[in-house]
Amino acid sequence: MIKMQRKGLILAGGTGSRLYPLTIGTCKQLLPIYNKPMVYYPLTILMLAGIREILLITTPEDHKLFQRLLGDGNSWGISIKYEIQKTPAGLADAFIVGADFIRGHSAALILGDNLFYGDDLIAQLKYANEKTSGATIFGFPVSDPERYGVVEFDHDGYIKSIEEKPKKPKSNYAITGLYFYDKSIIDKALQVNPSVRGELEITDINRMYLKEGNLKIQLMGRGMAWLDTGTFESLNEAGSFIRTIENRQGLKIGCPEEVAWRNGWISDEKLFDLGSKMKKSDYGNYLLKLLINS
Ligand code: TTP
Repeated sequence: MIKMQRKGLILAGGTGSRLYPLTIGTCKQLLPIYNKPMVYYPLTILMLAGIREILLITTPEDHKLFQRLLGDGNSWGISIKYEIQKTPAGLADAFIVGADFIRGHSAALILGDNLFYGDDLIAQLKYANEKTSGATIFGFPVSDPERYGVVEFDHDGYIKSIEEKPKKPKSNYAITGLYFYDKSIIDKALQVNPSVRGELEITDINRMYLKEGNLKIQLMGRGMAWLDTGTFESLNEAGSFIRTIENRQGLKIGCPEEVAWRNGWISDEKLFDLGSKMKKSDYGNYLLKLLINS
């Protein structure tokens, strides 16, 4: 039997109101994180997991800008489709907006403003992507868990509870903006009712999987980074973090051309072509150097 490939969703709408006036003329996920648009980072996470069919969900105002930047994905050996979320109705709404795209497939959702980095990351992504039933979420230790969805688990890793922005968090593990779900996800999303703040909460979906005994958590440890980009401080810090690591190692983080090439999705010739078009920038030169060093 042919295995159905998981489809990927990037949720890149929202208002970005904590970043006003930066996000009045454009949207948060197109702002730079050092040398790349923010959306490159979540996009490459899906690619690193092995996902090649991706739907980008944007606001009505911004979808043309994303299309100009990313096109149909063909140059990176992937397919990118677009869908509009009319209002920021909540994270669980991604599966309703994207229902036609994912129907019959399992799905991974990543938030368009989430950055992940770390040694064990690719292995964790591939492991989550291999699972065809149930759900996988990722827990990351934070100093301010009350701002996030918080997961409580026992010594064996069994999840005991999930709470959205709890006043008294039962652990310091926040649930990150990366979720892997099986193909029952659309049915589950349709059952979610708006919360007190008027949003379709992803926590409700996770609770449904938990109730079925089908929710797994993978913990991201000290060697990993999950970066926030929602405020001026965190946006700036994320840029500095990427800059520091990239300059020290001479390797880029969140570079879709490189991931496509290393995955064998584009040829040497294609990478040369993509690099040549940007050879006046360090980014383009980096792509060309990958070929020389290979
Ligand atoms: P948030 O950070 O919760 O919201 P926001 O980006 O609109 O920012 P602010 O609080 O400053 O107004 O959203 C997290 C991510 O999810 C972000 O990439 C925007 C996206 N999002 C949507 O695309 N649609 C939605 O309905 C919601 C709630 C968020």
